[in-house]
Amino acid sequence: MLDSQELEVTTDSSEAIEAIDRFGEAFLGYRKDAVAILDGIKADPDSVLARVLGAALFLFGETQLGRAEARENLDAARAGVSRANDRELAMLEAVEAWFLGDYETVMARHEDIAARWPRDLVSAKLGQYHAFNRGDSRRMAELSIRALEANPDRAYAHGMAAFGFEQTGDLQRAEEEGRLGTEMSEHEPWANHAVAHCLDAGGRLDEGVEWMHGLSQRWDDCNSFMYTHNWWHTALFHLDRGETDVSLDIYDRHLWPIEPTFAQDQIGAVSMLTRLEMRGVDVGDRWDAVAEYLLVRVDDQIEPFLDVQYLYGLARAGRDAAADQLMANIGACASSDQEFQRADWAEVVEPMARAVLAHARGKWAEAADGLAAVKGEIYRIGGSHAQRDLFNLLLLDSLVRGEDNEEAARVLQGRIRARISIPWHHQLLAKTYDRQGEYEQATAARQEGERKEMALTAWSGE
Ligand SMILES: [Fe+2]
Repeated sequence: MLDSQELEVTTDSSEAIEAIDRFGEAFLGYRKDAVAILDGIKADPDSVLARVLGAALFLFGETQLGRAEARENLDAARAGVSRANDRELAMLEAVEAWFLGDYETVMARHEDIAARWPRDLVSAKLGQYHAFNRGDSRRMAELSIRALEANPDRAYAHGMAAFGFEQTGDLQRAEEEGRLGTEMSEHEPWANHAVAHCLDAGGRLDEGVEWMHGLSQRWDDCNSFMYTHNWWHTALFHLDRGETDVSLDIYDRHLWPIEPTFAQDQIGAVSMLTRLEMRGVDVGDRWDAVAEYLLVRVDDQIEPFLDVQYLYGLARAGRDAAADQLMANIGACASSDQEFQRADWAEVVEPMARAVLAHARGKWAEAADGLAAVKGEIYRIGGSHAQRDLFNLLLLDSLVRGEDNEEAARVLQGRIRARISIPWHHQLLAKTYDRQGEYEQATAARQEGERKEMALTAWSGE
């Protein structure tokens, strides 16, 4: 039978086809009903594609808990390969490799599918997800550009390409594609999101707020990742505008708790609380509320980008035993010689995690030295530029609080060169000049901060 992408699926169950289509739409559009694939498995337990997508659903949880169910579905799919077509077989091999952590095979299969069945956006999107998690922006962009060439009629393809362009630094094409995807469909939150990245990277704070609030009603039927992540970007614009009260309000209404057991919601909360604290906001007992849900993450070690943020959240909430155990588990990954174990754990994650933990515990010099040492390698653990900026900010905060004023000023000057519009950077620079006794430079930086503040259009609420 043919699915809605007009690709052949080995099944004679129209219910299975419908479920595969619903999964595809949910996955590409970040809707809530990706679990529909389980109905497809029920309708046709022998459908290799339904089984493979079911395994993907469980792996997307990014926790150890889902792996057993993913394995069961992969085994069932493997048992039926004699009936599978070539595309289904390639998808099975891709998701099996995902299960093992074999990134090269994962990407080779998705790239092969993109070449032979370019209408398969679900496969391309999966490939984009994996490349994203490895900080492999070049491969991510290549895959999504190829998908766009074959699918110019689909808004999702424009959203994917937009994000690929953004992460490779081609902000102009990224913004064009993101705006086009947003125009083409009322429901393309990933395209909305890619434009937010462009506006953020350019320090275009007024436009960012206007863009995101103007689209926010479209996210109500998104899954919790997309809903909270787009609101996270919105809160980020307000933070950079100095409107910490608005960011905190967004946190309480749209970030936490939406789906508190989901990994991506958890790291979004950790990341936002950290940034709020850096700007002097008292976040009250919010760390405790998040840490309750982080305790079960101690033994995960699925994605290092997640682990380092779980670690910070646990330590900030004073969950010291759990934080120490998670740190020990990260150390064990770093010294493991298992096949496909990422070298990143040893070369990047362990030293980075130690530094992040040091910051959470107020050891500023240790945190600054540790983060400075791995700064150029952090991209390897994935996440977007905007998400990974958390670690640049932790480094900056360590320098400021540890009173390494000269280095702090150097970092701030770099941040101002990249995004001149953010008043907070100028204010913090003034503080570091004051501490160095450079009063004239401090006054100039302070006045520049005031000018940047005046240049912003006052936010009048939603
Ligand atoms: Fe993002």
